[in-house]
Amino acid sequence: MNKVKTPDYILKLKPYKPGKPIEELEREYGITDSIKLASNENPLGPPQSAVSAMTKVLMDSHRYPDGSAFHLTRKIAEIQGVEPGNIVLGNGSDDIIGLLTRAYLAPGDEAIMTLPSFLMYEIMVNSTGAASVFVPLADGTRAFDIDLDAMLEKITEKTRMIFLTNPNNPTGTVIRKNTFEAFLSKVPAHVITVLDEAYIEFATDPECMMGRDYVNGEKPVVVLRTFSKAYGLAGLRVGYGIMPEDIALALHKVRMPFNVNSVAQAGALAALSDEGYLKQSLEVIHGGLSYLYGELDRMGFTYYRTQSNFFLIDVKRSADQVFELLLREGVIVRSMTSYGYPEFIRVTVGLPEENRRFIKALAKVTA
Ligand SMILES: Cc1ncc(COP(=O)(O)O)c(C=O)c1O
Repeated sequence: MNKVKTPDYILKLKPYKPGKPIEELEREYGITDSIKLASNENPLGPPQSAVSAMTKVLMDSHRYPDGSAFHLTRKIAEIQGVEPGNIVLGNGSDDIIGLLTRAYLAPGDEAIMTLPSFLMYEIMVNSTGAASVFVPLADGTRAFDIDLDAMLEKITEKTRMIFLTNPNNPTGTVIRKNTFEAFLSKVPAHVITVLDEAYIEFATDPECMMGRDYVNGEKPVVVLRTFSKAYGLAGLRVGYGIMPEDIALALHKVRMPFNVNSVAQAGALAALSDEGYLKQSLEVIHGGLSYLYGELDRMGFTYYRTQSNFFLIDVKRSADQVFELLLREGVIVRSMTSYGYPEFIRVTVGLPEENRRFIKALAKVTA
């Protein structure tokens, strides 16, 4: 008989629930030609420059990747104005979250995060035996700002890490420079502040803080970036962290030697040099947002302006039901019920025709 004892803290984990494959949903609901506005992906498809670069390296697939990701690391360091020793690459920024928690958390430790927040923080923290401590977002009157003062109040001797998402998911709000600096000055030096900037490229608020400005300061700050959103490469799984060198060295010790494969390295490197693609991504998102805001205003919906490529709409009825009805129209969005907002849906900005189709479907299912 199997005598393996799975630790209690592993048994208690709530696994990340991936969405069903699009073909499966189409089969189940008898629809074709559906559009996915649910996962904050880039609607443009991957950069052509990345596809060409990746096609070339496929011929070297019999070789191991460059375990130090020499060229990609240097290019990122150059763009971010830091040293290569400040960069750690990962199999998506998810991987960096895992490396941080593995290197710095142990049973009895605590990590503070907002409620709701990106689900991987809790999963990764709790899988080390440490505990996640949650701080609710400020309420609707402050349009869901992260309550940094309340987070400071939760800091104890056991706290090792604080997760902040900027812009935040699912709310699309940003942290202002002055608010952050006041916060950071009060964080004890034994606590790592993790700034997840998965969507930072989309932000237009001039007061929005940038984590890299604080990485070489007195307090330990780690910034997470990804190629999954503005760079259109979610399927490749490439992300990175910018951090003080001692933390980077610790993460290199616990990472898999080849955690970013050669195709992903080539695609990410090409995408970084493709300024045209990034510009087009931002135009599509910002243009799409002004169209969607205009239509939702016209239809009388309450929604929350975003600094990201997704935003929340208050549908003032069951979000699960609206999600189902939209699905039958071939439009896939995210119900926010599991995030604690049972009457909100989250919509990712799509291509112009996708946005029009979403608006038409929303009007129909809420008529
Ligand atoms: C806030 C946030 N952080 C990180 C990620 C994951 O990024 P990656 O694809 O680089 O693992 C996501 C993905 O949706 C996200 O919303």
